[in-house]
Amino acid sequence: MKVKKLNELDVSGKRVFIRADLNVPQDDAGNITEDTRIRASIPSIQYCLDQNAAVMVTSHLGRPTEGQLSADDSLMPVAVRLGQLLNCPVRLINNWINGDFEVKPGEVVLLENCRGNVGEKKNNEELAKKMAALCDVYVNDAFGTAHRAEATTEGIARFAPVACAGMLMGAEIDALSKATENPARPLVAIVGGAKVSSKLTILRTLADKVDQLIVGGGIANTFLLASGKRIGESLAEPELVKEAQAIMDMMKARGAEVPLPVDVVVADEVSALARANRIPADEVGAHDRILDVGPKTAAKLADIIAHAGTIVWNGPVGVFEHAQFAGGTKMMASAIAHSEAFSIAGGGDTLAAIAKFHIAEDIGYISTGGGAFLEFLEGKTLPAIAALEERFDN
Ligand code: 3PG
Ligand code: MG
Repeated sequence: MKVKKLNELDVSGKRVFIRADLNVPQDDAGNITEDTRIRASIPSIQYCLDQNAAVMVTSHLGRPTEGQLSADDSLMPVAVRLGQLLNCPVRLINNWINGDFEVKPGEVVLLENCRGNVGEKKNNEELAKKMAALCDVYVNDAFGTAHRAEATTEGIARFAPVACAGMLMGAEIDALSKATENPARPLVAIVGGAKVSSKLTILRTLADKVDQLIVGGGIANTFLLASGKRIGESLAEPELVKEAQAIMDMMKARGAEVPLPVDVVVADEVSALARANRIPADEVGAHDRILDVGPKTAAKLADIIAHAGTIVWNGPVGVFEHAQFAGGTKMMASAIAHSEAFSIAGGGDTLAAIAKFHIAEDIGYISTGGGAFLEFLEGKTLPAIAALEERFDN
């Protein structure tokens, strides 16, 4: 992927517009509960400030109705956090589309939630042109939003005088390319989480590329069903059993494998107080719900991970939020942490598991993308990256 990179440009004295992904989780009172994306956006901003550029940063927050921003949609808490991390004041600018604000060289301002602007989501050309006119250099550092073709992620890249990738975007592209183009073998993918259908395309693409496809959560239950096992009242998608079967067949034909659980942890409810039982995978009762893999399975998965050359991780294998269903995910997390393989992880639940088991330092690369991470792995063209590629030579 050939894109211009911010760290190869001289932006001194220039007006720089940075599209970051500062879409962070907040509690009911609006406090930021997890600030990884804000921290990850600092290097590009700092680089521009160090070069005495006049820096404008924007991002979306949530999915507000265009033209009707409410107090809950405001980037104000993000402006405060940015200021703390940059150690300088960060003014928040409302109604910025027409450029009725000032920003001096060496200063950074935050432009209020870009999804407040009418036309942002539909990638309106007039809006994109107006935003492009605000800057000399457009920087896209919003990898987490790279799968969306919106005015600040795609349109503006076509009209700004210069369009380049920020440091985070560059690092994401490099790490994900390393895991997908010519990866060290065996390539092991872990795809967990509640549903199969939302991750079906990725499973199909991965089945064609990886040596081992570890499935977890509701996805694994559907695969168990496909292999003829009873799963009681476990979460699954019976209508997708054929698809699961096709994926297993595809893997088998290539001499690869979908390792299915041989034992599981069941309970009759998902709660912190639920009584958990460890049982063989073929002894699941009519009212049982499978909420984690059992210890034998966890050990088997850990062994597969230990022998991997590359590990791609999206999604937990159990309801790790509750201690009695956390064993499988914990064991897997620890195996990834101890592995010599290049590992890459992404997605909200995965990041929460990484934080919970304190293994962030031991993961090769932690992506700030959820949907964008999955679509990149699927081999899809991400519109925001494609727009930067278009501007490589001009
Ligand atoms: C995300 O958190 O998934 C990204 O910031 C993209 O947000 P979106 O799904 O609302 O487009
Ligand atoms: Mg999303």
